[in-house]
Amino acid sequence: MRESVIRDIHLANSGRQKIEWVKKNMPLLRYLEEDFKKNQYFKGLRAVVCVHLEAKTAYLAKVLAAGGAEVSVTGSNPLSTQDDVAAALVADGLKVYAWYGATEKEYFEHLNYALDIRPNIVIDDGGDLVHLLHGERQELLPDVFGGCEETTTGVIRLKARAKEGLLKFPMISVNDAYCKYLFDNRYGTGQSVWDGVMRTTNLIVSGKNVVIIGYGWCGKGCAMRAKGLGANVIVCEVDPIKAIEAVMDGFSVMPMNEAAKIGDFFITVTGCNRVIYDEHYKVMKNGAILANAGHFDVEICIPELEAMAVEKKEMRKNIMGYKMADGRWIHLLAEGRLVNLAAGDGHPAEIMDMSFALQALSAKHIAQNHKNMENKVYEVPDEIDQYVAQLKLQSMGISIDTLTEAQRKYLSSWGE
Ligand code: NAI
Repeated sequence: MRESVIRDIHLANSGRQKIEWVKKNMPLLRYLEEDFKKNQYFKGLRAVVCVHLEAKTAYLAKVLAAGGAEVSVTGSNPLSTQDDVAAALVADGLKVYAWYGATEKEYFEHLNYALDIRPNIVIDDGGDLVHLLHGERQELLPDVFGGCEETTTGVIRLKARAKEGLLKFPMISVNDAYCKYLFDNRYGTGQSVWDGVMRTTNLIVSGKNVVIIGYGWCGKGCAMRAKGLGANVIVCEVDPIKAIEAVMDGFSVMPMNEAAKIGDFFITVTGCNRVIYDEHYKVMKNGAILANAGHFDVEICIPELEAMAVEKKEMRKNIMGYKMADGRWIHLLAEGRLVNLAAGDGHPAEIMDMSFALQALSAKHIAQNHKNMENKVYEVPDEIDQYVAQLKLQSMGISIDTLTEAQRKYLSSWGE
C-alpha cells in the first residue's frame, strides 16, 4: 500500500482543530466510538471511505478505525476535500489519498490508491468506488463483503446495476433511511446550501426570486430556508405530485422556461442531467446566480454556458462570471459542483452525526451479517434507523411517550 497522497502534512494542526470541533457536536458518533473501541467489531478488517473529505467524514473514518478496521480514505468530489483535514488524518496514522482541486485524472488515481487497501467494507458517496470495483478493479471483488451508499445519486446507480443482476456485493442504501433523508437531505442541504451561497456571494437573499429546480428532499429544504430568508420562491418540477406539494407549501410553480426569465438565484437539486441549459441562458437576467446542490456537476450545463460566453472572468473566489453577447453577466458558483461542499463546509455536524451513525452501524451490520446477504441493495435495517433516532433524541435531552399495552393491542387489532 503506497504512502498517503495529500497536499501538505504541515496543515495537520488546523485539520485537528476542525475534527475536534465536530467531535464535540457529534454525540452519536462519540458514543459509537466508545462502543466500537470496546467491542472491536472490525478487528482484522479493511475499510475504504470515499465521502466528501471534511471534518465530519474524518471523524467517521476514525470511528471505524477505533473499531479495529484498517482504513483508507479518499474524497468523493475534488472540490470538497479540505487539505488540512486530510493532513490531520494522516498525522493520526490513517492512509489518505485526496487533495483539493484534484483533476479528473488525479481524482480517479486517488480512488484507486485508496482501493489498494483491498477493502472488505466500502463506504461510498455517489457510486464512484463501486463503479471502479465493478470495472477496472474487479480483481478486488473476492475480498469485498459489502458496503454502504450515502447519497440519492449513488443509490440510483446501485439500483440500476442491481436491476440488471450486475451488482457483485451487497450494498446498504444509507440514503433511504428515515434518519438520513428526512434530516440530512432536507435540513442539512437546506441550511448548508444557503450558507455556501451567502458566504460565496455576500449578497442579500431577502426580496429576491429564488428558483429551486427539483422539489425532492433536498429541494424542499432549500426552498423552506429560502422562504425563511425572505425570498420569493419558485419551484420547477417534472413530477406532478411534487409540484402540487410545492404549491401547497406556498410556492409558485412554473416551467423552467418561465422561471429562467425572472430568477435571481437558481439552485439545481434534481440528480438529473442538464436542467439549466442554453435556452435558459438566453433569457436570464443580468447578474443571475447559478448554483448546483445535486451530486454531479452536470445539472447546470457548463459547456453550453462556456460556448455562449464572449468573456469569462473570476469575480470572487468560487464565482465565475460569464458575459453574454448582449452584455448580461451570468454567474456560476463553485464550478457547478455541490455548492454547500465546494464553497462551504457541508452539512452541520449534528446532521451528519445522524447520517454517519447510520453509516457506522450499517458497516457493522455488514461485518457481522455479510455471509447471509445477497448481492442486492438493502435498506438500512429498521432497528438501526430506530436506534439512531433514539440516540439522537437522547442526545438532545428529549424523551417521548411509549405505547401502553392497551394502546399497542388496539393498534394491532381490527377494531373489535
Ligand atoms: P429526490 O429524488 O428526493 O428529488 C429529486 C427531485 O428532482 C424529484 O422530485 C424529481 O422529480 C425532480 N427532478 C428530476 N429531474 C428533474 C428535472 N429535469 N427538472 C425538474 N425536476 C426534476 O432526491 P434528493 O434526495 O432531493 O437528492 C437530489 C440530489 O441531491 C441527488 O443528486 C443527491 O445525491 C444530492 N444530494 C446532495 C446533498 C448535498 O449535500 N448537496 C445531500 C443529499 C443529496
